[in-house]
Amino acid sequence: MVKESLKTSICHESRLLIIGLGLIGGSLAAALRESGFKGQIAACDPDGNEIALGIEMGLIDTGGTHLYEQLRDASMVVLAVPVLAMESVMATLAEALPYAARNVVLTDVGSTKATIRAYAEKVFGQVPTNMVLGHPIAGSEKSGVAAANPRLYVDHKVILTPEPNVDHNALERVRLLWQACGADVLEMDVERHDQVLARTSHLPHLLAFSLVDTLARQDERLDIFRYAAGGFRDFTRIAGSDPVMWRDIFIANKQAVLASLDDFEAGLKRLRYAVETDDSDALIATFDRASHARHYFDSLLNKTSYQAEYHMQPQGEVTYRVQPGGQAQGRLRVPGDKSMSHRSIMLGALAEGVTEVKGFLEGEDSLATLQAFREMGVAIEGPHQGRVTIHGVGMHGLKAPAGPLYVGNSGTAMRLFSGLLAGQAFNSELTGDESLTKRPMGRVADPLRLMGATIDTADGGRPPLKIHGGASLKGIHYDMPMASAQVKSCLLLAGLYAEGETRVREPAPTRDHTERMLNGFGYAVAREGDTCWLEGGGKLTAGPIDVPSDISSATFFLVAAAITPGADITLEHVGINPTRIGVINILTLMGADLALENEHEVGGEPVADIRIRYAPLKGIDIPVDQVPLAIDEFPALFIAAANAQGTTRLRGAEELRVKESDRIQAMADGLAILGVKHTVVEDGIDIVGNGDDSAPSYGGGRVDSLGDHRIAMAFAIASLRASEEIVIENCANVATSFPDFVALATRIGMAVSVEGTHE
Ligand code: S3P
Repeated sequence: MVKESLKTSICHESRLLIIGLGLIGGSLAAALRESGFKGQIAACDPDGNEIALGIEMGLIDTGGTHLYEQLRDASMVVLAVPVLAMESVMATLAEALPYAARNVVLTDVGSTKATIRAYAEKVFGQVPTNMVLGHPIAGSEKSGVAAANPRLYVDHKVILTPEPNVDHNALERVRLLWQACGADVLEMDVERHDQVLARTSHLPHLLAFSLVDTLARQDERLDIFRYAAGGFRDFTRIAGSDPVMWRDIFIANKQAVLASLDDFEAGLKRLRYAVETDDSDALIATFDRASHARHYFDSLLNKTSYQAEYHMQPQGEVTYRVQPGGQAQGRLRVPGDKSMSHRSIMLGALAEGVTEVKGFLEGEDSLATLQAFREMGVAIEGPHQGRVTIHGVGMHGLKAPAGPLYVGNSGTAMRLFSGLLAGQAFNSELTGDESLTKRPMGRVADPLRLMGATIDTADGGRPPLKIHGGASLKGIHYDMPMASAQVKSCLLLAGLYAEGETRVREPAPTRDHTERMLNGFGYAVAREGDTCWLEGGGKLTAGPIDVPSDISSATFFLVAAAITPGADITLEHVGINPTRIGVINILTLMGADLALENEHEVGGEPVADIRIRYAPLKGIDIPVDQVPLAIDEFPALFIAAANAQGTTRLRGAEELRVKESDRIQAMADGLAILGVKHTVVEDGIDIVGNGDDSAPSYGGGRVDSLGDHRIAMAFAIASLRASEEIVIENCANVATSFPDFVALATRIGMAVSVEGTHE
């Protein structure tokens, strides 16, 4: 059956006439039949055998070779003949039209539109108001009515190109015709249609015809076909298409095809040169870009996320259902640090030489950064099991991207990119997902403007950010109004391109990965007290990077063990940079039994294994100086507080309101559903813990993570001490920072099931 939703899209024509009963016309008849179409279907074709076959197959009720006869009482006429045959068919149609029903609607299925519109103008004086030109983007290399397929149009697009004076009722009826066949109908103007199709359909057909013809001529015994394996077969399938139809298309859409062919020839020339000169960087850059663009394209077609194509975390509407209770036991290694993963790609791309990264986080946020650099011409191999090889292009080697750079959910990417792009010679635009589009970017745009950058934002300093290239930046001394590592890093990155010194003073210490990594790449960043600075105009030298596990991801398991009687978990190789260990300090103050083992340094960053065993927690006043050092850990820490004895008070944490969600409110709403007492204030929250080893700490229920990865994971962990199941909605974004979360949660002894998984 044609898809379910068709029940609402029924085509009510009394007599549909298809002129030209080939694959496209025959499939239209077949699809209408399956949709429960009640009217009569007639066809007209110069080949009587096709008509006879159509009747025999049960696709049409009647038909013949003479248009006058078939047109009688037709309420809709679909022209499905090759493009260059349209003019003569229209001429006959114009004469015979009085035979049709009074309110007849005319449409077509031609693959090019400007030529067909010109024919209509010639024949009818102007495009009649009851004529709606259209093009179903579906087909097959097979031809003739014998190949008719009732599902040919299901989930395919049909582009209608109505003229401004079109009769709206006629347009609606053509739309219904295609919707009844399961197609998605959209509108476009004629010129744009022809441009788009030249690139997406006509050019690939030309290449396939050309390749097969060229190889077949060279190989008289046609061995290529005997030995042709996947690549040849996949690339050339469409060369089996109908020659007449395609000759007509290339003649009809000549100008647009020639323009797309020029672009293609230029690309081919570049690749030829790369092969000739053994330019392996250029080859990798092109292939990588193409390979990722192809995956991205698949993901758009499948309506899944880019990430899902890499078989990581399920996407779409993802819900976690977590059973109450369970254990927290084992040795785990959580994925690489998100902040360092972003920075490794950014600095690696701008460095001279090749940077090898180990432990890279293959989460959506850092992959968005990686993809953005590919779009700026950087050759990047991987990621493969956390390994990435970046072929640095030097400080001035980035190329203008073809379109806006999309950084998904990632505030870090957008803010750091804004600094880096402000220093480039080309214009750029940064966009993100719905959550990111609501987040404040004035905090970076304002100081960058002080440095001389020109940046446009949407209302309220929100994304998208349009950054004008070619500005000459000047170093500034900036007193940050908020403690933000993203703002600091943005300015330091812009400072690399600025004249003189860029100094940033922070109101409280924030993560210093940018400073450390710049030093690691041989770029001096100085610090005195609360201020760090660098001098513009230097260069970065590539070197290896070992990204430790992310303490922010480890936190969910630290809290899991801290609240679960009998728990004993060791988290291996976790980054314990002093600017990130607020969670360790806060949990220790609450009474957690936590020890650091095997402490050492990798690539300028301290790491350790963290062992945590259950011990009863008590409520505390969280020291304000710990807030920036634990800024991403509060959702999980709120769950620790709900399991402590007594009240935990958090203040000075207004930054939590502008994260991936308003984390104070999102957590408060979820805690309310579990029945945890709390009071919200502007810059924090009081949470009344109900910790008691012998009983659950709260109930269960359905909470909404609002698409915020850390809210989702925090409530999953909360289930360890709930009396009822907790269902968490909107969990797809866990993939931004912690693709393996559910697998690891299961390994420690939790029962999490995932609904809405994309297969
Ligand atoms: C980050 C800084 C923090 C943090 C974010 C990552 C970074 O943001 O919340 O997850 O990598 O610099 P702010 O700088 O906005 O505090």
